[in-house]
Amino acid sequence: MRLYPRSEEILRKNRCFIPGGVASLNRSIKPEIVFVKRHGAYLCDAEGNRYIDYHAAFAPHFLGHNDPYVTEAVVRALRDHASLYGSGTTILEGQLAELICRHVSSVESVQFLNSGSEATYQAIRLARALTGRDHVVVMQGGYNGWHNDVSCNLMTPLEELGPRVSPGEYPYKGMSAGTPLDHQKLVHCINFNDLESVEYVCEKYPVAALITEPILQNIGVIKPEAGYLAGLRRLADRYGFVLIFDEVKTGFRHALGGYASICGVTPDLVVYGKALANGYPIAMLGGKKCLMEWFAHPEPSKRVLLAGTYNAHPVPTTAAIATIERLLMNEGEVYRHVEQLGGRMQQGLEKIVARLGLNAVVARQGSAFCLYFMDHCPKDWHDLAANHPFSLDEYLRRELIERGIYFFPVATKQCSISFAHSREDVEVTLRQVEESLRTIEGNILAK
Ligand SMILES: Cc1ncc(COP(=O)(O)O)c(C=O)c1O
Repeated sequence: MRLYPRSEEILRKNRCFIPGGVASLNRSIKPEIVFVKRHGAYLCDAEGNRYIDYHAAFAPHFLGHNDPYVTEAVVRALRDHASLYGSGTTILEGQLAELICRHVSSVESVQFLNSGSEATYQAIRLARALTGRDHVVVMQGGYNGWHNDVSCNLMTPLEELGPRVSPGEYPYKGMSAGTPLDHQKLVHCINFNDLESVEYVCEKYPVAALITEPILQNIGVIKPEAGYLAGLRRLADRYGFVLIFDEVKTGFRHALGGYASICGVTPDLVVYGKALANGYPIAMLGGKKCLMEWFAHPEPSKRVLLAGTYNAHPVPTTAAIATIERLLMNEGEVYRHVEQLGGRMQQGLEKIVARLGLNAVVARQGSAFCLYFMDHCPKDWHDLAANHPFSLDEYLRRELIERGIYFFPVATKQCSISFAHSREDVEVTLRQVEESLRTIEGNILAK
């Protein structure tokens, strides 16, 4: 077992001044490793160990850490005295907005924020203003940020959740203390891939918005079944709720136009973060112009307040423009490269589990993949929680960390390939996965 004495020392110090010792508590995880350098596809920890990184800081690093093109643009901006003017508009935010409206077909008009959570918060508030309704539908197993409407029902243990409910809704299981009870009553949590439950909730409550990741990528890679997203569109039109695609993880990673451009379903509003600027803090909320205009509604009583000291800060805005430019270069070489590596990873993993006689499947969309120890790709959280051996998954992830492969050590978390990964990185990873699975004792393996 690797020891991490330097990491321990840094954490011990940080805990004196920061609750939990870390600035985002979902980064608090065992083994507690402090990373001190990141470059391309690699992470280095405080002890000097190097890892091939598939965590990608929860997925923003689609081009890899410190992509040279993006870094150069940012350095140039700083040299040119980039500063937050914070007064009036800027040429830069206009450039980014135009690029996005040109390349993301579901976006006619766009606003910028600093994080995915801010953007989903504003999307839901806008939906409430537009509809004059208060209720919101979210997905069991989806994650849309830390605020009151959405910080619930992610990886809820089945003992707490109870049996599968369809059509119907699950009890609200908050992820945060401090959410008022009255607010919880406005949030309705249903299965992904379950249109009947959407209808059930819409018949009972005045629903302002349904927010969903088009692929659930906070519990691996759970894809929409054929017709599901189109069904959501139909129900949004029938019941008059605002359909919000949370593409914070899928946006740019699967296509410039997000998963919406792949599935051909246009949401009313869409939210991007993470890969939008390859790791720099910026998010966007975009959609139909007639809806977005409510942020600047001429009637004050209808106007939705959108304000933020750091919105469209020149550094992340420059990084986002450079990221889009890089993604557009050489007729989509970035997407071709990650698709090739993703395909090789999937094929390699499938061969390994077949050789070892394991009950396992690989779910993948482009550069995002997850190995599930089940006989089918899960269709929703309930299916996953009932059938996937979480302890085996975590055991594998920890074993891989010992071997220099960093899959985030929480079961079912998505693995992310970047443009900086090489074929050799994938081959090394596959060898280490096979070795790791062979060393895991037979009684843990669900054969
Ligand atoms: C799908 C999705 N939506 C929203 C968020 C929240 O984004 P942020 O952490 O930037 O607030 C996340 C973060 O992981 C996410 O995965």
